[in-house]
Amino acid sequence: MSMSDSWIDLRSDTVTLPSDEMRRAMAAAEVGDDVYGEDPTINRLEARAAEIFGREAAIFVPSGTMGNQIAIKLHTRPGQEILCEERAHIFNYEMAMPGWFSGCIVRPIAAPLGILSWEMLAARIAPSIGYVAQTGLLVLENTHNMAGGTVTPAAAMEEICTQAHRRNLPVHLDGARIFNAATYLGAPVAEITRAFDSVMFCLSKGLGAPVGSMLTGSRDLIQHARAVRKALGGGMRQAGILAAAGLIALEHGPARLHEDHANARLLAEGLAAIPGVQIDLATVQTNIVICDVSGTGQSSTEIVAALKSQGVLAGTVNPQLVRFVTHLNVSSAACRQALRSLSAICRTRASV
Ligand SMILES: Cc1ncc(COP(=O)(O)O)c(C=O)c1O
Repeated sequence: MSMSDSWIDLRSDTVTLPSDEMRRAMAAAEVGDDVYGEDPTINRLEARAAEIFGREAAIFVPSGTMGNQIAIKLHTRPGQEILCEERAHIFNYEMAMPGWFSGCIVRPIAAPLGILSWEMLAARIAPSIGYVAQTGLLVLENTHNMAGGTVTPAAAMEEICTQAHRRNLPVHLDGARIFNAATYLGAPVAEITRAFDSVMFCLSKGLGAPVGSMLTGSRDLIQHARAVRKALGGGMRQAGILAAAGLIALEHGPARLHEDHANARLLAEGLAAIPGVQIDLATVQTNIVICDVSGTGQSSTEIVAALKSQGVLAGTVNPQLVRFVTHLNVSSAACRQALRSLSAICRTRASV
């Protein structure tokens, strides 16, 4: 039995299980050696991703981390600096790879709700002088995971890219959850991401595939990405078995994300009503809910442990903050149950 059969698992949208349709497609997938470019299912997935994003090409990679780090490698030179928001995934959760693999440092910038503007970035671009590392790349994250799934508006992304390009600076989008942003904005991903030099998105999060992410961009960029992917050990041979599930995620996943957003809102409004739990409802825009539990007299670790004892899984962000993520394997009834459990935990503690 998997965790999802018995638990209400709100730790992440990465925990989703492949549907029966995915499993059937995986079993029947036509495959070949992808390092030779001969896997027809991967070729179809890459062509479809490029088409949906209005790009010349796309490449299937094992993870979002690999997609981001390939892009960083291709856009920068060793000794340069990368600007991003301070809670960004590329800075905090990608194993220092900008330094390790690309020889760059990351200069993090704090932005309210994780939403960067051109003014914030422009103020931190290194001056062209010989004794400071030169800015080589800007990276945006949309939706912004650790800021609570917040969405950078399309106009802000467009302005950042246009202004950066005037200074010959490329801009990469960590769009792990860009379909959630597109759902929130009510606009196609191709439209909201068109100004970026490269876009990474994950099939394995809210879209529901078991494995895989895509990097999209120009034909030239993606051709170079194939070499970097191979160098990182990402040449996966007959991975059409995975791409078959990815194709289903890409075709059908986006249309149901609004359900996850509605469940996140339900959770957030319920959390706001629990004494001692603080949440800024304005931050709850997509499928991620981050709340401050310090007013309950318990740490986030204690709250998460107590929830677990009641069959509800959540994550900690820091000692004060708890994170819940909705996805296709949690229903609105499960979210209500999670709220009842948390209310009971907070009530018990308050009466001690
Ligand atoms: C914003 C963001 N970018 C990138 C990633 C990396 O994806 P993966 O876990 O597939 O490496 C994640 C994963 O949670 C993420 O949230």
